[in-house]
Order: sequence, then C-alpha cells, then structure tokens
Amino acid sequence: MTLIVGLDIGTTKVCCYAVQRQRDGTLQPAGYGVAPSRGMRQGQVVDMEQTVAAIRQAVQEAQAMGEVTFTEAIIGVTGEHIESIPRRAEITITRPEREVLPEDLERLRYQLQQVPLPPDRELLHTLIRQYILDGQAGIINPLGMSASHVQAEATLITGGVTFLQNLRRCVERAGLEVQAMVLEPYASGLAVLSPEEQEVGVALVDIGGGTTDVAVFKDGGLVFSSALPVGGNQVTRDVYILFRLANPEEAERLKREFGSALAARVSEEERISYREMGTQVERRVPRRLFSEVIEERMREILELVQAELARSGYFDQLAAGVVLTGGGSCLPCTAELGRQVFGALPVRIGTPQPWGMALPTALQHPAYATVVGLTLYGAQILPEPSAAPASLWRRIVQTLKRWFQRPQ
Ligand SMILES: Nc1ncnc2c1ncn2[C@@H]1O[C@H](COP(=O)(O)OP(=O)(O)OP(=O)(O)O)[C@@H](O)[C@H]1O
Ligand SMILES: [Mg+2]
Repeated sequence: MTLIVGLDIGTTKVCCYAVQRQRDGTLQPAGYGVAPSRGMRQGQVVDMEQTVAAIRQAVQEAQAMGEVTFTEAIIGVTGEHIESIPRRAEITITRPEREVLPEDLERLRYQLQQVPLPPDRELLHTLIRQYILDGQAGIINPLGMSASHVQAEATLITGGVTFLQNLRRCVERAGLEVQAMVLEPYASGLAVLSPEEQEVGVALVDIGGGTTDVAVFKDGGLVFSSALPVGGNQVTRDVYILFRLANPEEAERLKREFGSALAARVSEEERISYREMGTQVERRVPRRLFSEVIEERMREILELVQAELARSGYFDQLAAGVVLTGGGSCLPCTAELGRQVFGALPVRIGTPQPWGMALPTALQHPAYATVVGLTLYGAQILPEPSAAPASLWRRIVQTLKRWFQRPQ
C-alpha cells in the first residue's frame, strides 16, 4: 500500500490530506489536517516562518488522525506568475513496423518541451491533450498503434522560479520533500469535473481567499490557465471597512452568516446588528444593504473572470459552462450571480466527489477541491509498487523488510 499526500498551501488555510492506495487501486482516506494560514498572499510566500508553522500543524494533524507518518507530499501552486503556453510537436517513425513505442512518446514529450524559457521561469507541467496519428486526431493513448507521423497537442505550464523556490523551501523546512508541484486549478478540476465536461469544454474557477484561479479544459485536457489577484478576502475587507465592523474576524463571521452574492435575494426588512469599530455603539444595518456591498465585489471578481475567459479565446467553446470551487464560491447565490455575468452559460458549484475514493465529510466542500485533486494527481503519477519493475537489490531489501516486520 502506498501513501499519497496532498498539501494545499492557501492564503487562508493550509490543508494536508493523506490517502492510502489499496492493492485494488482504490484510494482510502488516511487522515487530514487544516491550519489557518497567515504567511501567504495571492499564492506567494510573504512570511516564511508563519507558512512553515502552518504546514507543520496541518501535517501533524493529518499524521495523528491517520496514525501514519510520511515525508513527501504533492503540493499545489498558483499565483499571477503562472503562465500557460499552447504547444504542438511532431516526430517521424521510420522503423518498418511503424509501431508507436514508449521511447517515441518520450521523444515527442522532449520535443514539446523545447521552448526557450528565460532563466526565471520553470516548467511545471507538459499536459498532453491529444495525439494525432498520420492526420487522425483525438488519440488518447497511441502506444502500440501504427503511424509514421505522430503529433501531440499540449499545454505547457510554467511558473516563476523565485515563487516556486520559496514555496519549496517552506515545505522542506516543515520536514517534507516535494514530490511534485501541481497547478492548483488543474488539481481542483481533477476533483470536481467529469471527463465529459472536460471533453466538451468547461471553465474551472476557484475563488479562494487571495486568488481566483481560472482554468479551461477542452478535448479532455487543460488548455488555458491564469490566476487573478482577487478573492473572497476582498469581500470580507469591503464589509469590514465600509460598515466599520469591530475586526476582520467579525466581518468574516457576518459575511458567512448573513451575506449573499445577490442582494435582491435578501429580505428588505431584516437587520444585522453589530458593534462599531473602536466603540461600544450598537449599529443596525439592513441585511440587503450589507449584501449589496458583497454583490458588488463578487460581481467584479466574476467580470474579471469573464474577461480572462474571453482573453483565453475559449469563452465561446464552454459547452459545459463554468464550475466554481474555493471557499469564495460558498456565498449563497454565487452560481446565480455567475449565470448573470457569464450570459447563457450553465454555472454550478463544484464539490469534490471523486470516483473510486471515499472522502471524509469535512472535505466534501468546494474549499477542499484542490487538496483532494492533489491526491488524485499523485495517484496518476506515482507508480504502484507492484507495477514498478523491482531491481534484484530492491527485491532483496523488500524481502528482508517484510521478514523483519513479521510478528516474531
Ligand atoms: N461559507 C462561506 N461563505 C462565504 N465565504 C466563505 C465561506 N467559506 C469560506 N469562504 C471564503 O472563502 C475564502 C477562502 O477560500 P479558500 O479556503 O478556498 O481559500 P485558500 O485556498 O486558503 O486561498 P487561495 O486559494 O486564494 O490561496 C475566504 O475569503 C472566506 O471568506
Ligand atoms: Mg486555494
């Protein structure tokens, strides 16, 4: 059995989720931990000590809950420094039998990656959407097929070296090794999107605390991604400042309890009472007015998303519409506001419900789509122990280990 660990280091929370891959390939929860995050802003580390402490806390909680220990994790990355580059490459097979072999696909992947990157950029993903064999498009796995020209369509995802290094350093200081760095909205997409949605065209929009990530999936893979430096925390800040609430925590509480992304859905009569900043004065404001402020900011965030989707060139190809994740999507009426902003597109909230994986109830929430997706990504890239061809030395070590672990 293998442990797969996802670590989502967000602006408001750090979440660590460990799953155990069973022999039949299914994933079983093995513990999770959530810690408040204060050292991150818009996908960037701004306070290393605070970030390391939050990672440690989340990891310790997950280990204690699952009674497991681990030293490696798959971590999520986002921020304005992320860029996506569409790529196409081709190779020729000259062998007489023209069968596509694993080494051909390696050669093709290498070709795709031959993009001159400036020294401050690091390649994160080479996401292949489809192969084209002698002009025949839509091939998912060409191994064993026959062709003389093999093309691949892919999206390369790159990130800023400094941002990635700082994040990696935080994880390492917290005692974990980084197995892979994964684009966060890509991970969220794995947790909430169906293969059909990814095929016909869908936008995944993760409204977090500090960033709103946008990713477009089409023809079964990711074709565009970007991150906007806005999120649910701005909404909280607006009500905090405008209504002169006692502190940001109170603003967060009132937003969650009484806020709505559509003011028109809130009764006109209801009032919210609170204590004014720096005084003992009790204020009462109409709940609708409170939501008007929230709606204005949420509408602005979604309009920025729409502009980003238009810029991607895929806005007219989103047959499956928009799926919203992230804590910011939990405000009542957010999907309805989305339908107003995105015109005729269908909009739904994405709660992680991965196939073949039992999920703890606490993680069945749009804010945990990323961490759940990180474990699913891990399951895709980490080899199953039985599938890996063990060397003689490794087999001897494993036999000895088993022998020593046997109850004496
Ligand atoms: N029930 C809720 N109602 C309204 N807003 C909520 C609710 N739950 C969470 N939020 C908001 O969601 C935001 C946090 O979302 P999330 O946990 O997805 O962010 P994060 O992953 O920590 O940050 P980021 O992805 O930006 O780095 C906060 O702004 C919070 O106010
Ligand atoms: Mg997040």
